[in-house]
Amino acid sequence: MLWLTSISRSPAFIAALTQVCSFVAVFLLIIVFPEQKLSTFEWAMLQGALAATISFRCKMPSWWIVIHLIFMPALAATLALSLSPFWFCIGFLLLVLIYGKTYQTQVPLYLSSQEVTKALISLLPKQRNFSFIDLGCGCGGLLKNLSQMLSNGSYYGIEAAPLPYLVSKLRNIVLAPDNTIKWGDFWKDNLAQYDVVYAYLSPVPMKSLWEKARQEMQPGSFFISNSFLIPGVLPEKSITLNDFSGSTLYMWRI
Ligand SMILES: C[S@@+](CC[C@H](N)C(=O)[O-])C[C@H]1O[C@@H](n2cnc3c(N)ncnc32)[C@H](O)[C@@H]1O
Repeated sequence: MLWLTSISRSPAFIAALTQVCSFVAVFLLIIVFPEQKLSTFEWAMLQGALAATISFRCKMPSWWIVIHLIFMPALAATLALSLSPFWFCIGFLLLVLIYGKTYQTQVPLYLSSQEVTKALISLLPKQRNFSFIDLGCGCGGLLKNLSQMLSNGSYYGIEAAPLPYLVSKLRNIVLAPDNTIKWGDFWKDNLAQYDVVYAYLSPVPMKSLWEKARQEMQPGSFFISNSFLIPGVLPEKSITLNDFSGSTLYMWRI
């Protein structure tokens, strides 16, 4: 029953339900008022407006309102292009390969900047060996750059989405062969063996991840989060960077 509760609370499920409800409402309107001669696109706009209103009333984050507003009109416009279903299938497969289970984890793919690499280099030990893991290592660029600039570290990455994992694995095999890249779920990995754990995820997993880090990581090791704070836990240090997203690195000592 727990899985049912967690699915029903997931934003993707709420979004799908919102679209279904507004679709049913518009469908009923079409049946009840058959004399209304709106075009398919106009009905689609009406459904978009209805879904956006439901989303607003349910206090969903603002981006959902925009997505609901344009989803059905965009669908109607795309169908009017009469593209082969093959392209939709390819597009869907690409999204699955790039984003994996983002609908579940609520952590999409975006990459750490070069400024982050430089800031991490300034924080990591220079005189002694250390182990570093990037939780959800994306395309592996951060690990490759770090290992090329700071050779006294052992670098590990774990990634769940298939295509970023493959890019990360190949890139590191060729350019940083000592790095270890695994395909999998970091919640199943034990963090005890790492001196530094780096995460660039989203606000959603931060509370549970902190619990995991506190239980598994060794005293004196470091947990660094790019951009996302742990609710209610002040970082020991924070560094604001001058990159495209204005990232801030937050650092906690276990
Ligand atoms: C914001 S990206 C960060 C990429 C990389 N760490 C960087 O800084 O450039 C987050 C990545 O975490 C991955 N991810 C999310 N949840 C995960 C999980 N439970 N296990 C492994 N990877 C996960 C996503 O697939 C995504 O590629």
